[in-house]
Amino acid sequence: MEKYEVIVIGSGPGGYVAAIRAAQLGKKTAIIEKYSTMGGTCLNVGCIPSKALLDSSEHYYNVTKSISEHGITVKDIKVDFSKMIERKGEVVKANTSGIEYLMKKNKITSYQGVASFENTNTVNIALATGENTSIQGDKIIIATGSKPTQLPFLQIDKKRIITSTEALSLPTLPKSLIVIGGGVIGLELGSVYARLGAEVTVIEYLDRIIPGMDDDLGKELQRILKKQGFKFNLQHKVTSAIADDDKVVVKASNKKGEEQSFEAEYCLVAVGRRPYTEGLGLEKIGITTNQAGQIPVDEYLETTVKGIYAIGDVIQGAMLAHKASEEGVFVAEVIAGQKPHINYRLIPGVVYTWPEVAGVGYTERELKETGREYKTGSFPFRALGRSRASGDIDGSVKIIADKVTDEVLGVHIIGARAADLIAEGVVALEYRASAEDIARMSHAHPTYAEAIKEACLAATDNRAIHN
Ligand code: FAD
Ligand code: NAI
Repeated sequence: MEKYEVIVIGSGPGGYVAAIRAAQLGKKTAIIEKYSTMGGTCLNVGCIPSKALLDSSEHYYNVTKSISEHGITVKDIKVDFSKMIERKGEVVKANTSGIEYLMKKNKITSYQGVASFENTNTVNIALATGENTSIQGDKIIIATGSKPTQLPFLQIDKKRIITSTEALSLPTLPKSLIVIGGGVIGLELGSVYARLGAEVTVIEYLDRIIPGMDDDLGKELQRILKKQGFKFNLQHKVTSAIADDDKVVVKASNKKGEEQSFEAEYCLVAVGRRPYTEGLGLEKIGITTNQAGQIPVDEYLETTVKGIYAIGDVIQGAMLAHKASEEGVFVAEVIAGQKPHINYRLIPGVVYTWPEVAGVGYTERELKETGREYKTGSFPFRALGRSRASGDIDGSVKIIADKVTDEVLGVHIIGARAADLIAEGVVALEYRASAEDIARMSHAHPTYAEAIKEACLAATDNRAIHN
């Protein structure tokens, strides 16, 4: 039987990064992936294809809505939807084959097949070829990810009632789409189709969208997406969805308890994701998942079984690619005897709508709950020279700082390039900067980043220069 120092199950951003780091640290490493391509949810049916479609649809939207303001006239604009989907496929392929190359480069042995535990150091692989093999590992890392959460009363037929996976590969451009869930997936994929002309109706259970983020961001995003044609139905409880050949009818009760009916070509169910451990044989090694389906781990991300670790979406915490990757590096380094560290408070969250939304650190809601005294400083993008030049004037930056010490506690951005700008917030929080520290640092002009400096000035005795 082939023996390895480290076996990784699952090749998503958690698993493949763990394998590379383990190999870098000199460990004989194997990775097992059940699908024919590497990269997991993120590269195949998540982060990458959704961003490819977001970028394509944004080009179209800008050409139709705002390019004339720049003195450019474009005639006969058409969407070639199958070409858009084809390009998305090529982007995915370039990324997934990049991971295969990285496995070879780092001398990691790849197995294609379904892994299941035989015992605490032996993994059986039902190979894609139809054969079975078993391998042994000193340490085993479970990185099997997650799958969409289903509503118990609602049958996902994958034709009319769909998950994000089908929404990334629709056969034709829809004219209308109902989205159940006003979270990240619903608003990102809703944006793709709204920009391409579909009527998008969001049905959300709570009284706000993107509920995990600072409340101000959700309010502002809702206002802007409404301008882009989104229809929002908050505080609505979905009760049924019935599909026929060419449409779906969704019923939901509003906050007064009145039944509302919605009809569209497709219904995207995006109400969260659930850890995936099916067929892994956890019961054979005595690991029990918790109520949320997560594998319990300690501070070293070790499960209740010594030598078996778990990372990424399959454990607690944000279901984000960069969180999974940080944990991949962390576990490989723990296994190699190092003392790594992850500050979970500083995992940034991003929504790739337009404008983008990004946040790191505490939200105001969280600080109010803990009773910590804080102050805020905000700066609107419309007051920035860079924003006026590009025309991207929506949104603002909000800095939350400790009322007494001025330490930056949270950075919350909605606006152009927020996804990239948030990195400055992460650095500020990691090094425990004060708002005044950031306010006194030179930010290149004209840039969107100046809004962060100005918001820090606003948080420091209300002394923003341009507002
Ligand atoms: P996964 O990426 O889910 O990988 C797990 C892998 O394990 C899969 O390939 C699976 O086939 C394999 N596997 C499972 N069981 C077995 C088994 N028994 N044997 C062998 N292999 C097995 N996050 C971001 O940070 N940014 C984004 O922009 C973003 N966009 C997203 C968009 C969408 C539409 C979706 C659905 C998700 C998005 N995410 C995003 C979330 C991100 O994809 C996940 O957080 C991330 O992929 C989790 O990584 P992971 O390694 O834990 O698991
Ligand atoms: P989500 O947790 O972001 O949003 C789900 C939404 O559905 C919430 O607003 C919730 O209140 C609502 N909801 C729950 N039950 C409902 C019901 N019965 N009826 C109506 N609304 C209901 O989950 P989502 O969008 O499915 O995404 C799953 C995960 O994927 C997220 O945890 C996210 O971290 C990750 N992801 C990350 C992205 C990014 O980083 N840009 C992009 C897409 C996904």
